[in-house]
Amino acid sequence: EKAGYRHFMAKEIAEQPVVLADALKHYIGGGRLNLPEGLDFTGVDRVVMVACGTANLACQVAKYWFEQIAGLACDVDIASEFRYRDPVLSDRSLAVFVSQSGETADTLAALRHAQDRVAQTLAVVNVPTSSIARESGLALPILAGVEVGVASTKAFTCQLAVLALLALKAGRDRGVLSEERLAGHLAALANLPGLLNHAVGLGEDLAALAVDIARARDVLFLGRGAMYPLALEGALKLKEISYIHAEGYAAGELKHGPIALVDASVPVVVMAPRDALFDKTVSNMQEVMARAGKVVLMSDPQGVAQAGEGVWRTITLPEVPPLLAPILYAVPAQLLAYHTAVAKGTDVDQPRNLAKSVTVE
Ligand code: F6R
Repeated sequence: EKAGYRHFMAKEIAEQPVVLADALKHYIGGGRLNLPEGLDFTGVDRVVMVACGTANLACQVAKYWFEQIAGLACDVDIASEFRYRDPVLSDRSLAVFVSQSGETADTLAALRHAQDRVAQTLAVVNVPTSSIARESGLALPILAGVEVGVASTKAFTCQLAVLALLALKAGRDRGVLSEERLAGHLAALANLPGLLNHAVGLGEDLAALAVDIARARDVLFLGRGAMYPLALEGALKLKEISYIHAEGYAAGELKHGPIALVDASVPVVVMAPRDALFDKTVSNMQEVMARAGKVVLMSDPQGVAQAGEGVWRTITLPEVPPLLAPILYAVPAQLLAYHTAVAKGTDVDQPRNLAKSVTVE
């Protein structure tokens, strides 16, 4: 069932262009959004998103989208924190629960907590028969197909795609996104599978980098804007399967503490598509270089040409509209974690201490 791949994780990373295209095809028809009738952001003044782990990081990316595309306030919670902190909910809140398995105990409990306290509950799940799908008001499948590897990969990119479509729907319902701009976003989404295909093809470059990353004790990941949650995801993926200590930071936060960790032994992965924050991220990157940190710059060709001088390694990704960069940059983050784990000889598909579905609190 690994279809010739050495691990399920490798297969699932490689499948992303295809499953993402399937998910997009399901939700976009004739240049229009094809979402359930009952889904309506018109009277909504706040989106509340709740999830664990990688699914939570997808929500953190989506927060930027809801704010930027739809001008809609958005809170993101870790499911295990949500119901214990008296979250402020109202009949104008729409609550979204994101889960690959649809069985994560904390996310399910959070859904039950929100059920009578919000206008609408919505599940974004991979398993359409799961408890979270059944108990929520509406369920949107992400259509990633069965995910076997414990480290979530294709579910993450498909979650992001569905959440991007929700933000577009919110923008339309609220009258802040024009037909023209919607069409532009949909066209950009339609190009994504091809870009992901290119990123999947960078496996050998990332495998070569991974040989060196495998020797590190600590690795930092940096990003700004919607690339900040991607930095968190890069770090999560690396630590869970290679057991190397890794942390993600908002690039601007580095100088408030974590830069103390940087020396010539610490690789620092900078996720920097050429967006409005590129120059600021690059200046944070230079702070790392001034302390001899080993910078891995992930950017597009022009970004690498502009800022790549003197960095330790570069990974060149195709150019992508900034809004969609988090979906594309997920792939090199996954491949780096994967190949580092392979180089270290750890159990990639079944890392120690972890379960695919966490059904206890
Ligand atoms: C990380 C990972 C976990 C899950 C988390 C939530 O690679 O897979 O962090 O994302 O346990 O699981 P689901 O999405 O099934 O609720």
